[in-house]
Amino acid sequence: MPSFLAISGSLRAASTNTALVEALAANAPPDCAVAVYRGLGDLPIFNPDDEGDRTPGPAAALIDAVTRADGVIVCCPEYAHGVPGGMKNALDWLVSRDAAVGKPAMLAHASPRSLYARAALAEIMRTMSFAMFEAAPLEIALLGRKPPEMAAVLSEDANRRAMRDAVQAFAGFIRANIASSS
Ligand SMILES: Cc1cc2nc3c(=O)[nH]c(=O)nc-3n(C[C@H](O)[C@H](O)[C@H](O)COP(=O)(O)O)c2cc1C
Repeated sequence: MPSFLAISGSLRAASTNTALVEALAANAPPDCAVAVYRGLGDLPIFNPDDEGDRTPGPAAALIDAVTRADGVIVCCPEYAHGVPGGMKNALDWLVSRDAAVGKPAMLAHASPRSLYARAALAEIMRTMSFAMFEAAPLEIALLGRKPPEMAAVLSEDANRRAMRDAVQAFAGFIRANIASSS
């Protein structure tokens, strides 16, 4: 069964992006497992001097979780037309390792805006050699909603189906990726 690691780029308690990754985990198809990464706020600021034997525990845990996952799902807000520092920091810890190389990844969007951050994330992750699944991006508009409204939107049948279909399509991409590389 493919297992995915879903990362929200927001630390906000009432984050729309975290609500979306949690809903993806809850609505994954029965033959896929989605685990939500909770360590973004524990990562020290990336320093290339702290790699190898000196890798801090939280960074090692992230690297391990990405390595073990069959694919990574990133759902991230935009701050000032860019990728929030916390998310970029997490990606920086993965740069000079094998964890990201060829690792299937897809972006999911909780805002219909954030176009600069979407493009920047895709560029950063492609540069890191993630195998980006870009054919069928998932977008569920949660921007500006409070948790009860988010829960209502995320429990709508059409949105539950969209989440399930997105994870299923990503799993199909991974299967095709494995078949073409073997
Ligand atoms: C400091 C800051 C800067 C922001 N800059 C942008 C921006 O440039 N473009 C945009 O579309 N939204 C921007 N937003 C709106 C956020 O993307 C929006 O609040 C989003 O819901 C945050 O994600 P979260 O709900 O997961 O915390 C900004 C929000 C903050 C707090």
